[in-house]
Amino acid sequence: MPAFFHNPVATCFGSGSLDQICTLSENHNVALVTFPEARGLGLIDRVQALLGERLVYIVEDVQPNPDVAHLRSTYERFWVEAEHCQTVIALGGGSAIDTAKALIVGTESGQFDELLGLLALGKPFTPARSKALIAAPTTAGTGSEVTPWATIWDSAAQKKYSLHLECTWPKAAIVDPELMLTVPAGVTVSTGLDALSHALEAIWNVNANPLSDTFAVSAIEDILDCLPQLQRDLGNRDLRARMALAALKAGMAFSNTKTALAHSISYEMTLRHGVPHGIACSFSLPLVLGLAWGRDSARDCTLQRIFGPDLDQASTRLRAFLHNLGVMTDFADYGVDADEAQAMIAHALRGARGKNFIGASAA
Ligand SMILES: NC(=O)c1ccc[n+]([C@@H]2O[C@H](COP(=O)([O-])OP(=O)(O)OC[C@H]3O[C@@H](n4cnc5c(N)ncnc54)[C@H](O)[C@@H]3O)[C@@H](O)[C@H]2O)c1
Repeated sequence: MPAFFHNPVATCFGSGSLDQICTLSENHNVALVTFPEARGLGLIDRVQALLGERLVYIVEDVQPNPDVAHLRSTYERFWVEAEHCQTVIALGGGSAIDTAKALIVGTESGQFDELLGLLALGKPFTPARSKALIAAPTTAGTGSEVTPWATIWDSAAQKKYSLHLECTWPKAAIVDPELMLTVPAGVTVSTGLDALSHALEAIWNVNANPLSDTFAVSAIEDILDCLPQLQRDLGNRDLRARMALAALKAGMAFSNTKTALAHSISYEMTLRHGVPHGIACSFSLPLVLGLAWGRDSARDCTLQRIFGPDLDQASTRLRAFLHNLGVMTDFADYGVDADEAQAMIAHALRGARGKNFIGASAA
């Protein structure tokens, strides 16, 4: 079968690349969507200095895991007060980028619940209006800068929605590793593991192909080598740059395959047990590796390029890698007993992402 790869995001990578927001935002009025620490870190001043009067609106109270409870008022204010902006710059982790993706799609009524109602019913949504998005990640993890998906949480209803439209592909991504130097150790590890899980999930995936594999294998090799070093040396610019590139490559890989079983498991771990996203989607990787191995010879070949020919050694290596980073790999470590774990895996296999897993049809 011919391989097909599509990613429309103009991507700028490298130290100091944040300066490119001037050119990339053309002559547009800009709204900035960013995380609460950004002002104290001098990032808002920096964007203001670059854009001058073109920066006309700022959302700076983005919370981790954008939740409908908070998003609703932000969205409705945005469509009244920032109507005249043509471009939105998301400067932050996945939470800021996904918040911006939700903001740029305007409903006819300007009400958020019009969009939420359609997402909840799984019905198509055609935005009445939209804005261009430039995504500048400040964490090395989600890859949201090169994907069209936005994860929207509804913790009160114990649900998670995925928004995905043609216009939620960012117009441009600016991946500047200098922006990641201030990420604390815990977030550095959990976001780095999110990237690892994107890359592995792109391999044990029914949508994988040699092009997505190329990005995925390269990302995994970098992360296995680099993340433990970075955990011990957070101010190291070379390591930050390598992790930024690895997360970008992982994002490119799963932008074409979507995620699979480990992510499907993660949603309940986050909603029911409060496990942070990066840990929730990586603690089960050794388990899912075992379920993937032997299902498909082409997928085995790709996994063996990274881990060698022996499954036991591969699982042991992956488990030890996670343990060394302080991440436990059993459900029980997170307060989930064996029965609940089995039920969770079965449920995850039936979910939209679970069905992308190469072992889903046999399960
Ligand atoms: N759209 C996608 O394809 C995709 C993929 C994976 C995850 N996600 C979503 O992304 C969200 C998680 O994103 P994340 O892991 O990047 O974390 P995040 O954006 O929630 O940020 C984590 C914490 O780090 C802080 N922070 C961010 N950058 C910082 C910096 N440079 N210096 C200091 N502190 C900083 C934030 O304020 C926050 O408190 C979740 O909602 C998850 O579901 C989306």
